[in-house]
Amino acid sequence: MLNELQKEIIALKKDKNAIILAHNYQTGDIQEIADFIGDSLELCIKASQIVDSDLVVFCGVDFMAETAAILNPNKRIVLPDKEAECPMAHMLTADELRIYKERYPDAAVVLYVNTLAGAKAEADILCTSANAVKVVESLDENRILFGPDMNLAWYVSHQVKDKEIIPAPESGHCYVHKMFNLGDLYFLREKHPDADILVHPECDPEVQEYADYVQSTGGMIKHVAESPKNTFIIGTEVDLVTRLRRENPGKTIIPALNEAICENMKLHTLEKVKNSLINQEFVVKVPTDVAEKAKNAIDKMLEIS
Ligand code: 13P
Ligand code: SF4
Repeated sequence: MLNELQKEIIALKKDKNAIILAHNYQTGDIQEIADFIGDSLELCIKASQIVDSDLVVFCGVDFMAETAAILNPNKRIVLPDKEAECPMAHMLTADELRIYKERYPDAAVVLYVNTLAGAKAEADILCTSANAVKVVESLDENRILFGPDMNLAWYVSHQVKDKEIIPAPESGHCYVHKMFNLGDLYFLREKHPDADILVHPECDPEVQEYADYVQSTGGMIKHVAESPKNTFIIGTEVDLVTRLRRENPGKTIIPALNEAICENMKLHTLEKVKNSLINQEFVVKVPTDVAEKAKNAIDKMLEIS
């Protein structure tokens, strides 16, 4: 049952001809009023297909809203809280990337979507955690500059053995996925021996090696929906568990760590979503020259996804 505020937001959405896109890490109350919930790749694809809405309220972090703005230069893309930034996306600036490119002139540059538009403009192609292996395999170059997440770089180098993956920077990481550890997983495995353990490729290598599956958040949604198993241990941000429980009421979904909370994603609230619809703020804009270059790298990824 929707509460009064959620009903007000739905009415406002109609009034303003707006659409609400939400990442899987948004709180349940925001997930319930979103037109679309997804992982980074699904949100990118959705953003590239928006036709009849004038206003897009993006309940996610800065790099996701920037990507939507790049793909929709004539629409108004707003973040309910303008401070919602992904710290990892700030770990590789365009200037730093240019230095890496000078050092490795023969390398193709593959950037995780968790980067800001300026860095994206310096990339040959983008990837998300759902398609990183496919993107790297599609390239002719044997040497790949890959950033900013060192753990996703490790995951890709583990899957694609015939290419050299150079992480840029050396220690880019997500503070949320760094929290998962083997001790917690051993304990949960003992308690739930029949469960599948799913973890995100932003987790540390030893956590990835111990898990049964390493997947994007969208991959986890699909896995739980389609698996004949009943119990799942989830190694990613806790509100993915909220979505999994809502969509799979007959299954047992256990968070690998209750403290794995992305505080940046949680800056958005229903009150702020309402404000963003009424005042059409806070607008996310990318300068045209940067946006055009970044769009090339995004389009290349979308072509092979
Ligand atoms: P997904 O693309 O798997 O949803 O991951 C996005 C993200 O920010 C993970 O921390
Ligand atoms: Fe960024 Fe990590 Fe939050 Fe994802 S979970 S948005 S990578 S800080």
